[in-house]
Amino acid sequence: MKWKTKITQILGIKYPLVMGAFGGWGKAEFASSFSNSGGLGIIAALNFPDPENFKKDLQKMRKLTDKPFGINLSLPHRSLKENGEDIRTRKRYLDYVEIAINENCSIFTTSGYKASFIGTRVHEAGGLWFHKCVLVKHAITAEKQGADGITIVGLEGTGFKNPLTNTTLVNITMAKKLLKVPIIAAGGIGDSRGFLGALALGADAVCLGTALMGTKECPVPERIKEKWLNLDIFDEQFHKKIYNYNVKNFMAPSTAIGHHKEIIPLKTLIEEMIKNAENILQSWGYNNNEFNTLRF
Ligand SMILES: Cc1cc2nc3c(=O)[nH]c(=O)nc-3n(C[C@H](O)[C@H](O)[C@H](O)COP(=O)(O)O)c2cc1C
Repeated sequence: MKWKTKITQILGIKYPLVMGAFGGWGKAEFASSFSNSGGLGIIAALNFPDPENFKKDLQKMRKLTDKPFGINLSLPHRSLKENGEDIRTRKRYLDYVEIAINENCSIFTTSGYKASFIGTRVHEAGGLWFHKCVLVKHAITAEKQGADGITIVGLEGTGFKNPLTNTTLVNITMAKKLLKVPIIAAGGIGDSRGFLGALALGADAVCLGTALMGTKECPVPERIKEKWLNLDIFDEQFHKKIYNYNVKNFMAPSTAIGHHKEIIPLKTLIEEMIKNAENILQSWGYNNNEFNTLRF
């Protein structure tokens, strides 16, 4: 089946799947396996405190894949200084953007607050700017600032939360009504039903974060992967942790881990997700060779 959504069309990817941004782990080997499996792999620039190593990783990525990939820049939840030694200054962020532009990268994703200065530079260079946020309100602002697409992370997802964070269901159905730009659904999605469900809610693609943590290519140490894969997502403590509206929330896996029981190759995870989604569609009487959300 051919998968056609606004996101597959704009980004030139086979499946409407975008890799999460991973502080600590989102580097060329991992990201290229996602791109080579048909989605959009993401390299998180801040994983390279030395910009020279970021440049080398981009060059490595080109050797590992000829498929599209994106760069992520995660912003802190406070205003950035203009200059200084700290990695988190506007100048430093723009330095990373410049390196990526010079390496012919054209897809940029940002997360957090006040990222439009990055979007402006990316647009000047002819690239695409996708912003990730947790509130529909912030998504509307980013659209007004010119974002070419928005990822909205629901309460089910891991990462930063806002006290007003809503569920993925509410986010995506409301975003579909209120935004014109393509929407990427994130938060708690780990299997073919979640994937198809998000597209039915109005998403143009799905962002996989936690679901990738148990894959072979994920560079997290094996013992941590095993621990995460054995988590009881119905446990009270786990529940409290993941649904805690705390902006300082750490990177615990989300409930999406509950769909996975063993370490498998990333390509297998994606192929199974797509194959099962196609089987579900067929069981519903959908007999087209093309899944197309462009019309509505
Ligand atoms: C280990 C880990 C590290 C992450 N690091 C970042 C990060 O640096 N920046 C960011 O925007 N999101 C980060 N995220 C969040 C993901 O990019 C994605 O938004 C989230 O995982 C989606 O929800 P899900 O985990 O339920 O799929 C991280 C997630 C995990 C699991």
